[in-house]
Amino acid sequence: MTEEVKKVVLAYSGGLDTSIIINWLKETYGCEVVAFIADVGQGDEVKPIKKKAIKSGAVKAVVKDLREEFARDFVFPMLRASAVYEGTYLLGTAIARPLIAKAHMEVVADTGADAVSHGATGKGNDQVRFELAYYAIDPHISVIAPWRIWDLKGRKDLLQYAKKHGIDVTASRKKPYSIDRNLFHISFEGGSIEDLEKEPPAATYVMSVPPEKAPNRATFIDIDFVAGDPVAIDGKKLTPGKLIEKLNDIGGRNAIGRADCVESRITGMKSRGIYETPGGTILHVGRRAIESIAMDREVMDLRDSLISRYAKLVYYGYWYAPEREALQKLVDEATRCVTGTVRLKLYKGNIIIISRKSDSSLYHPDFVTFEEDTVYDQRDAGGFIKINALRLKLKAMMEQKRR
Ligand code: ARG
Repeated sequence: MTEEVKKVVLAYSGGLDTSIIINWLKETYGCEVVAFIADVGQGDEVKPIKKKAIKSGAVKAVVKDLREEFARDFVFPMLRASAVYEGTYLLGTAIARPLIAKAHMEVVADTGADAVSHGATGKGNDQVRFELAYYAIDPHISVIAPWRIWDLKGRKDLLQYAKKHGIDVTASRKKPYSIDRNLFHISFEGGSIEDLEKEPPAATYVMSVPPEKAPNRATFIDIDFVAGDPVAIDGKKLTPGKLIEKLNDIGGRNAIGRADCVESRITGMKSRGIYETPGGTILHVGRRAIESIAMDREVMDLRDSLISRYAKLVYYGYWYAPEREALQKLVDEATRCVTGTVRLKLYKGNIIIISRKSDSSLYHPDFVTFEEDTVYDQRDAGGFIKINALRLKLKAMMEQKRR
């Protein structure tokens, strides 16, 4: 009854689940398994993961370093859109999925495989994001999602299966929740985090200190933006990946970027997520400071009105969809003017704007000044207000008549 599969490429993390999946795929389909390891900056050493894949029964393990591409072509475009999901989540996991899927499909093409597999569960968002991307790239690809098929119910079953098949479980007695890390953020969910009554234990966090542990002296940084993207810190040019890494470090030390969200999953349920996105949080604030002087009011309003739309597309896995691409064009056009420098003060979880400047600034003290000026005639404002009040006046007059 199982479909004919000869070679599967599995997105492999080195964890217990995907190690078991290698075995399960071979057992269920009698196929070869190629392990694909995406380096999106999760910070794990890839060599031992590669070894573990082979030890777990993969015929081959392919590693791709995707860090710079991730920062440049996925994180930066999303930041230009100012994307935030449900007001708090900066989308760090969601934005990595389409890139991982794209690289995954390249390995499928290179190895002549006829199917892909991943370790995302049947309840979560990641299965949707991966698979929408696979199908957008190859509409005929066969997808195997073991968590939706096998009868292993949870952790206990997994451990039992591992024991039975001699799979190494030493690395799996780690933390009592699920972790997903990349260059942009780290997320924690499930397990002990499911209790909404409790603050996550201090030891949960890995990228940032709590405000109480941050230095008593503020840190000042300058960030240069060109056409909506950050390009340098304190005058030093950095690649997109290195720039995010550096801001993660500075931000994390100053207790910046933590978020505790209860979010609505694609599949309908609400779930709690703990996130750390230090660099991303700084970039959101910094870019807005330049936008506030360089971006036209109505253009900003239009872009902002699309934030939740864009964020939802990323969250729901529609990166490679025509509507996301169309929106991106608008966002990119809107942020073309965002060139300049912002100086920020970082202090115990706060990001305080010290100064912002831009050659394309629309801010003119001559116009806004409370002092006497020669460029604006205050008498003009009276007529402007009266005409704008016309429909309000008409409505009030009608109401008066009816009384
Ligand atoms: N809830 C977040 C999202 O859907 C994070 C998911 C992280 N995945 C994980 N296995 N911990 O984007």
